[in-house]
Amino acid sequence: MSRKPIIAGNWKMNLLKSQAKELFEGIKDYVKDYSAKELPTIVVAPVFTSLDVVETVACNCGCGGNKISIAAQNCHWENSGAYTGEVSVEMLKDAGCSYVIIGHSERRQYFSETDEMINKKAKAILAGGLIPIICCGETLEQREAGVTDSHIASQIKAALSGLSNDEIAKSVIAYEPIWAIGTGKTCDADEANRVIAMIRKTVESVSSSQAADSIRILYGGSVKPGTIAEQMSKSDIDGALVGGASLKADSFNEIIANTMKVACNV
Ligand code: 13P
Repeated sequence: MSRKPIIAGNWKMNLLKSQAKELFEGIKDYVKDYSAKELPTIVVAPVFTSLDVVETVACNCGCGGNKISIAAQNCHWENSGAYTGEVSVEMLKDAGCSYVIIGHSERRQYFSETDEMINKKAKAILAGGLIPIICCGETLEQREAGVTDSHIASQIKAALSGLSNDEIAKSVIAYEPIWAIGTGKTCDADEANRVIAMIRKTVESVSSSQAADSIRILYGGSVKPGTIAEQMSKSDIDGALVGGASLKADSFNEIIANTMKVACNV
């Protein structure tokens, strides 16, 4: 089964509106000369307050903007109501999003997000017609204690609980070892591929071989233009969730270019 690669930029809490617009335009300018078949699925995740400006630039006029999908970095599972400070899936859809990142380690660590909350979010996102990018990953302590696989398998089982096989098949998972995030220490590509293959087996154990074959599983953690080709050459790595290197059009575009050299045309 050939899965279309995804290159997703998680902008985290960075960039003012004008900067987000400039970055989006820099990516758009690069992708306009390639067909959708040549390109990976490209996703960018700005902060909530920049979703609108990015959606406006992502027009459908053939300028390339429609080749970039927009993600939110979080959502609430209820549609509306007394949840001060939260944003619902329906609102994100209204703002032009087609993906939502959930369960990022920074949200688990700083905002006490639990597996149960992540599961509720995944259900709401899929029910609303959007695609969840479900993050998982181990701390350095967990890796050193030899519990990487059991920890990640339990995160994945909890996140996917109660989803149908079709819903699982269209979801995206991002394996982000916490010790590799923002540290410049990339996980060895063979090891990342091993963990991702283990995640795929875990997905199969709670769904079907078809769903496990279809679901796209990304690697994240200090991905750079110089690391992506090797990562993309591995059997189970379907793309990347990029933090720091997604904040400059030059480096993000180079990651897209290097992905196309080894793994596109799907
Ligand atoms: P870095 O690419 O900056 O390590 O961040 C990875 C990440 O957390 C993406 O979600």
